[in-house]
Amino acid sequence: MRQVEALRWTSAPAPVLELIDQRVLPRRMVYRRYTAQSGAAGVARAIASMVVRGAPAIGVAAAYGMALEAARRRASSAQVARLALERAAVILAASRPTAVNLTWALARCRAAIARERGDARALAATLESLALRMHAEDIAINRAIGRHGARLLPRGVRILTHCNAGALATAGYGTALGVIRAARARIAQVWVDETRPFLQGARLTAWELVQEGIPATLITDNMAAHFMQRGQVDAVIVGCDRVAANGDVANKIGTYNLAVLARAHRLPFYVACPLSTIDPATAHGDAIPIEERAAAEVTGHAGRTWAPREIAVANPAFDVTPARMVSALITERGVVERPGKSRIAALLSG
Ligand code: MRU
Repeated sequence: MRQVEALRWTSAPAPVLELIDQRVLPRRMVYRRYTAQSGAAGVARAIASMVVRGAPAIGVAAAYGMALEAARRRASSAQVARLALERAAVILAASRPTAVNLTWALARCRAAIARERGDARALAATLESLALRMHAEDIAINRAIGRHGARLLPRGVRILTHCNAGALATAGYGTALGVIRAARARIAQVWVDETRPFLQGARLTAWELVQEGIPATLITDNMAAHFMQRGQVDAVIVGCDRVAANGDVANKIGTYNLAVLARAHRLPFYVACPLSTIDPATAHGDAIPIEERAAAEVTGHAGRTWAPREIAVANPAFDVTPARMVSALITERGVVERPGKSRIAALLSG
């Protein structure tokens, strides 16, 4: 079956980035267009407003944002283009704080800019080919994660997943959903957490699984313990937004709840994790910046409000699961059981 493409790029006659607007799925399937005129600022707004979301997808989108900005500056001098690109990288980096893939992708763009000795046109060509390469690499990485992860799952397995770590959250195929896709013949059931407040599970993961005919059941976040207690869940698999050097994992709010529950019910808790999501510069989970999002996401949804106006609201978009609660990281280089500082360093050193 043809996979959904969260991001699409066209080079000629003029560069265009198209992003599925994930805010309105599954009700409507709309691609939003970003051109050289919208530049990097347009893509930064798309990331901040969740048109595109999911750690790997926002990394690749940021690389395309840099390519659009470079296309916009093609007629400028190399010096002016370089200054504009540095400003663009700063704007893109500020669009969302938690997923390290954004910083990682922009660091690759900056390195490519530094290596390029040509004029503004050469810079545009370099950044376009880098973004296309990152796009293709991400799909290959997810397929490798899928292959490694599938080996962990026995026949008839019932998996619980949270948020959306699927094709929509990446350049394609997905990380946690990549494992589920790769193991689909063995999977009896996927429990899909609704994922309040933004409903990535109910809207996006449910949509991807229904499209592919993978047996899936949607539950609200507070039902997970019930199904674990009844012996109807065999493993939890989630994605991640940043893994610290000691193995602590930041992922969608509610992930830590599941890790605690998995431990209480002696279930494996797996984290699907491309190497681009590991941040060796962040020593431990406490140092990971946690994005705080708008109160309106908690007080209601899609323009409907159900909470009293006066109520105070907290809306952290991510939480941190301590490394000791993670059974294994599933990466493109293989499975790392009980990840900690030395195993992560060994993984990164290849
Ligand atoms: O706020 P979001 O929707 O960008 O959060 C997404 C997640 O938390 C995903 O689990 C994570 O980015 C991994 S996506 C492969």
